[in-house]
Amino acid sequence: MASHLAEILKLPLVPAADCSCGLLLLVTRERLELRPQGPGATGSVYVDFTAGRAAHRRRFGGGVSQPLARAAGLKRGWRPRVLDATAGMGRDGFVLAALGCELTLLERSPVIWALLEDGVRRARAAEDPELRAIAQRMIVRHADAIRYLERLSERDAPDVVYLDPMYPHRRKSARVKKEMSLFRALVGDDPDSEALLQAARGRAGYRVVVKRPTQAGYLGDASPTMSIESPNTRYDVYVRKGIGR
Ligand SMILES: C[S@@+](CC[C@H](N)C(=O)[O-])C[C@H]1O[C@@H](n2cnc3c(N)ncnc32)[C@H](O)[C@@H]1O
Repeated sequence: MASHLAEILKLPLVPAADCSCGLLLLVTRERLELRPQGPGATGSVYVDFTAGRAAHRRRFGGGVSQPLARAAGLKRGWRPRVLDATAGMGRDGFVLAALGCELTLLERSPVIWALLEDGVRRARAAEDPELRAIAQRMIVRHADAIRYLERLSERDAPDVVYLDPMYPHRRKSARVKKEMSLFRALVGDDPDSEALLQAARGRAGYRVVVKRPTQAGYLGDASPTMSIESPNTRYDVYVRKGIGR
């Protein structure tokens, strides 16, 4: 697996013990993980849907009444097909897939895509049949979402496009901060997120949802149809067509 990954990600293949780089993408027996190196390095980052926050949120997250689900327009008897155009570590996508949505997750950073792909692969092989079924609803693609959306035919358009681009100032827990600083080192600040919103608004069947920190302005100053708030997060919803019409 390591040599195959090194080839497709165009990264040098080295034995872990010999590494003098700042950041190591490590193939262990269990999983793929990103491991910072050197003095003061923080712990590894990897995708794990089987335990921790993802598992907790699946059980106790509040079902279809949680803000993310309401923003995406989930209703009794209706689950949208969602394009998660900024998939990252797949946390939000996993919540929607756990609620029954079919998800396509796009990630343009090759390293983050590889971590997410590995997390979904392991979830598909999990002992828990419910988790396996959720992971079956998640398709991960390595792609730039703007180009992907521009090439998408009307027939293949998703019901909902979900966007959570990087945002400069997020108040987060220490663990998420660690992950965010690694993310920033790998992907930067997503300066084209306004163009992504435009592309998404042109393709979503029903709506586009943009996740923002509560205090942040609207993405590209574009006023949404409505916003749904939770303590630290706001979901701005751009409705294209009413659900069920
Ligand atoms: C803040 S993270 C998303 C976190 C994600 N919602 C989660 O729950 O784990 C933003 C991610 O979107 C990706 N991204 C931003 N713009 C993109 C684009 N145009 N196409 C594909 N991926 C994009 C970045 O590479 C980054 O990994």
